[in-house]
Amino acid sequence: MLKFKGTLIISGDKSISHRALILSAMSTGKTKITNLLESDDVMRTLNILKELGIKITKSQNCWLVYGNGTNGFIEPDRSLDCGNSGTTARLMIGAVSSNPINCTFVGDRSLSKRSMSRVTKHLVKMGSVVNLTNKDYLPLLISGNEKLLPMSHEIQKASAQIKSALILAALNIQGITKIRENIPTRDHTERLLKYLGIKFKIIKKINKAKVIELNGPYEIKSKNIEVAGDPSSASFFIVVALILPKSKITLKNVMINPSRIAFIKILKKMGGKINIIKTRKVSGENVGNITVEYSNLKGINIPSSQSAFLIDEYPILSVAASQAKGMTSMKGLDELRYKESDRINSIVYNFKKIGINIKEENNNLFIVGKKLNIKKNIKVKSFSDHRIAMSLSILNILYNKKLKIDNKKCINISYPDFEKHLNNLL
Ligand code: S3P
Repeated sequence: MLKFKGTLIISGDKSISHRALILSAMSTGKTKITNLLESDDVMRTLNILKELGIKITKSQNCWLVYGNGTNGFIEPDRSLDCGNSGTTARLMIGAVSSNPINCTFVGDRSLSKRSMSRVTKHLVKMGSVVNLTNKDYLPLLISGNEKLLPMSHEIQKASAQIKSALILAALNIQGITKIRENIPTRDHTERLLKYLGIKFKIIKKINKAKVIELNGPYEIKSKNIEVAGDPSSASFFIVVALILPKSKITLKNVMINPSRIAFIKILKKMGGKINIIKTRKVSGENVGNITVEYSNLKGINIPSSQSAFLIDEYPILSVAASQAKGMTSMKGLDELRYKESDRINSIVYNFKKIGINIKEENNNLFIVGKKLNIKKNIKVKSFSDHRIAMSLSILNILYNKKLKIDNKKCINISYPDFEKHLNNLL
C-alpha cells in the first residue's frame, strides 16, 4: 500500500493572490509581489487589470505591478473575460464601479450561471448603472462613477466576495461607507489593507457580526507583498495523509488565518493527528508548518454555524468522512449549490457511483464511512470543478487509480502544481 511522506512547500493562496494584484494596481507606485499563485483564476484578474491600463511584468520569481491609484483604471477596449473565476468577477466589478469608466464583464459557462446581483444590487444603490443582460448573470455592463454615494450596507449572505467588492468600491468613494457583515467570512481584504497602512475601522457587534467603516477616497502607497501558502490547497494533502496508513507529512508556509483553517479543527475532532506550529507573519497573515499523521477517523456532526468557514473544503471533508468510522453529517450547505459546480450534486453523484453511502436532504449531507475494495474501473465526473477533481484524485490514490476522472485540466484553476506536489509526497 502507498503511503505519503516528506515535506512540501504549499503554493500561494488564491484569495490573497487576487487581492494582492488588485490592491497593488490601486496603489501609487511599484509593488513587488512574491509567491503569487499563477493559476488560471488569478491570471484572469491579472489580465483584466492589464486591460484596465495597469502595467504588470514578471521578473524572475516575482511580479511587478505599477499602480495607478484608486481612481486610475482606464476604459478597456475589450470585454473583460473572467473565465471561471467568481472572485475575479465580483471583486473587479466592485473595484471599477467607483471609476468613471464603462466595462463589460463576461465569463465561461459555469461562471455565467453564478449570481452577480448579490454584488451589483449594492452598487446600484450607490449610483452605478448596471445592465445584467441575462437575468442575474454575466454578461454584465457597468458604467462606473467617481461620485458614488457613501452609504451603509448590510450583507445578509456569508460572502467574502460581496464584502470585498464593496470595500474595493469604497476606496474611491468620497465620505463614509459602512459595510455590515452579519456572518463572518474570510478577512484577507481587511488584513491586506491594514498591512498597506490604510486607516479604517472594524467595529465588532454582537453574534460575531462586524461593521467595516471606510472614509475615502484613499491614497494607497505601494508596499511589497508576499503571498502566504494556500490552506485550501493544503487540505487535500492533509486528508490524504490522514487516510493512507503509515503516512506522515509536513506542509510548510501554510497560511493559518482562523477564517480559513476551520477544516483542521473539524479533522482534529474526527480524530486527526494534526499539529500546527506558527512560524512567521507574511504581509498581514500568519503562516505555519503543519504536520499530519495517519489517523483512525470517526464521523462527527458539523453544524451549519461552521459552513461559511468551511465553504471550499466540503468536497475534501466528504472524502475524509467516507473513510471515517460511523456517520458524518454536514449541515447548512446551501451556498455549495452556487460554486464552480453545484457541489452538493457533484459530491452525491460521484459518491453514489463509487458505492459510498451518502444521502442529501434539504442541503444537508450525511456520509457513512466504509473501506471499499474497488476492483473494476468506475467513471466519475469532475463537473469541470477544480475542487471536485482534486477530491476525486485523492480518493483515487486510495482506490488504486480505479476511478476514471473525466476532466482533470480544471485543477489549473486553483492549483497548477497539484499533481507534481502529490507525486513529491508519494
Ligand atoms: C473567496 C470567497 C469564497 C470562496 C471563494 C473565494 C474569496 O466565496 O468560496 O473560493 O476569495 O473572496 P464567498 O463569496 O462565497 O465567500
